[in-house]
Amino acid sequence: AQSQELKGKKVLVTAGGTMERLDPVRYLTNDSSGKMGFALAEAAATRGADVTLIAARTTANPVAGVNTIHVESAEDMLQAVLERYDSAELVIKAAAVADYRPVTKASTKIKKGKEKLVLELERTTDILKTLGERKKDQFLVGFAAETEQLEQYAMDKLTRKNADLIVGNDVSQEGAGFNVDTNIVQIFGSEGLVESLPMLSKREVADRLMTLITTRMKAAQGA
Ligand code: PMT
Repeated sequence: AQSQELKGKKVLVTAGGTMERLDPVRYLTNDSSGKMGFALAEAAATRGADVTLIAARTTANPVAGVNTIHVESAEDMLQAVLERYDSAELVIKAAAVADYRPVTKASTKIKKGKEKLVLELERTTDILKTLGERKKDQFLVGFAAETEQLEQYAMDKLTRKNADLIVGNDVSQEGAGFNVDTNIVQIFGSEGLVESLPMLSKREVADRLMTLITTRMKAAQGA
């Protein structure tokens, strides 16, 4: 059993792919299964944390002892996270949040009509960036799903979104990223690359990451 190094700490984890509705029966989403975020929630709970998991569309199995809140869109996720942000001590954003959503959501099923249909999309709010701007004492961990130049993009996200750590995964690699049971991650902090992990189960990645996070949280608190 893990030591209770996060005992009493409030931890917020996001997981899964947001769903951006076009009409009552159709939506835009992505390949996230939620497995990475659920594994992180479990790893935090095992360490004694009081975990709230904010889950968008997912196929992952529920985690015992974790308060799971189901949401649909990026906007829903933003609200659910913001409501709990001030009291959280650690926030991990493993969710694949849509960057764009349809400008209008039809209230009735869109009927088949002309040969071509053009969808107009608009930017969603960047949740991680919003959290970075409002950060007080929270330890903020983001992910970066990239298909090229992992280090450059991960470091850019760390700075722009004011995160304490960014977990980069090259989702073009086999055994990494969306909808598989394993991941291959590189973890970046303000000093650059902190840890480069081989292909491991998402649960193992979650454990390694949690160990690094708890060490850094302790250091930040001057303990
Ligand atoms: O769910 P699985 O199938 O297990 O797959 C895991 C995963 C590939 C989804 C996960 O490891 C991962 O990389 N999650 C982040 C996916 C993503 O959206 O990456 P991004 O590089 O587009 O976003 C960077 C960060 O900003 C992420 O922490 C993301 O949660 C956050 N973000 C992005 C857009 C937005 N509007 N708001 C956000 O908060």
